[in-house]
Amino acid sequence: MSTAARRVESFGTTIFTEVNTLAQQYQALNLGQGKPDFDTPVDIIQHLIEAAQSGQHNQYAPGPGTLSLRQAIANHAGRFYNLDIDPANGVVVTAGGTEAIFSAILGLTDPGDEVIVLEPYYDSYVPNIIMANATPVYVPLHPPTWTFDIDELRAAFTPQTRALILNTPQNPTGRVFTHAELTLLAELCIEHDVTVISDEVYEHLIFGDAQHIPIATLPGMFDRTITVSSAGKLFSATGWKVGWAYGPPALVEGVARAHQFVTFAVHHPTQEAIAYALNLPDTYFADFQTMYAAKCQLLLSALDCGGLTCTVPQGTYFVMANYSDIFDGTPMEFTHHLIKDVGVACIPPESFYSAAHAHIGNGYVRFAFCKSDDVLRQVQERLQKLSLHKR
Ligand SMILES: Cc1ncc(COP(=O)(O)O)c(C=O)c1O
Repeated sequence: MSTAARRVESFGTTIFTEVNTLAQQYQALNLGQGKPDFDTPVDIIQHLIEAAQSGQHNQYAPGPGTLSLRQAIANHAGRFYNLDIDPANGVVVTAGGTEAIFSAILGLTDPGDEVIVLEPYYDSYVPNIIMANATPVYVPLHPPTWTFDIDELRAAFTPQTRALILNTPQNPTGRVFTHAELTLLAELCIEHDVTVISDEVYEHLIFGDAQHIPIATLPGMFDRTITVSSAGKLFSATGWKVGWAYGPPALVEGVARAHQFVTFAVHHPTQEAIAYALNLPDTYFADFQTMYAAKCQLLLSALDCGGLTCTVPQGTYFVMANYSDIFDGTPMEFTHHLIKDVGVACIPPESFYSAAHAHIGNGYVRFAFCKSDDVLRQVQERLQKLSLHKR
């Protein structure tokens, strides 16, 4: 009998499908999946339309991406982080940040290598590592501040460690790693000759005093770091699935070799629109951040009304909220309660953890605040009901 491969045996249907279905069934306000409920800026859409209509961009794009987009990615990294990226050999455009991470893992690790993952983590990392026949090694971030323990981190490095996946600003915790934390990580990676795959898709979503520091900018780190980002997050265009990886040509070559046989090339007209968008003035990125800082405040106030507690996120559009003061039960049970009885959907964090550490997420659920202000205000009204349903 034909069956699915053992490689994918442990991959279930993602929790997002389950929550989206339930949310629809109960007409819940859906703060589950991290996709904006508002549109991509019109001028960026206009560039996509013009690129398609020009007749110049409807056939395969160059495998590593159009030169105009690779140049725009390099310029953006120079403008915001003073990084000197080679647009010809130091950038590869991918089908979203997700493919950039997968191609980086496939192109930079060998079967049997160990890859360190800080958890809770973005849910594609571990399946990607498994598909590459490498082994994930987990280091927990401890609530409520979501910081790693230096001894646990040090113990994760072994002679088999080939790579570490870093995510800052971090989904789902909202952490933005500090210069001191990144220095510790960098020192260990240099000592053990480890490559860093740095997922920075939320690079422009930073609040308060937090500062986004690409680990590639730390001394000795550029040559061992692949940095990943995504147009979906920067321009509220998650459906366009355009991302990229950049770094030193020697590492980018590994990513590009995998990429050419994963997707070969990415949607061509969209690359023209994203090249335009990445070259937008600083005011675009500042306004984007201000808009999200206000949305974050709306969600924090809604959570407060519902009796949920949290550490204020330093970045991303996610909050990990603790419900233990108002509900006894697992995150999955709380999610069902919230959707069915209160009309608000969130994500239980089980799929962001290895089995050994899933208990760390007990009492927490993730909310996404990439939603219209109106929806976030309605969430506040509904969460007020939580105290009435207290059990
Ligand atoms: C941390 C993180 N990395 C990568 C991605 C994937 O980005 P994309 O939609 O561009 O594939 C996401 C999307 O939610 C994310 O949260």
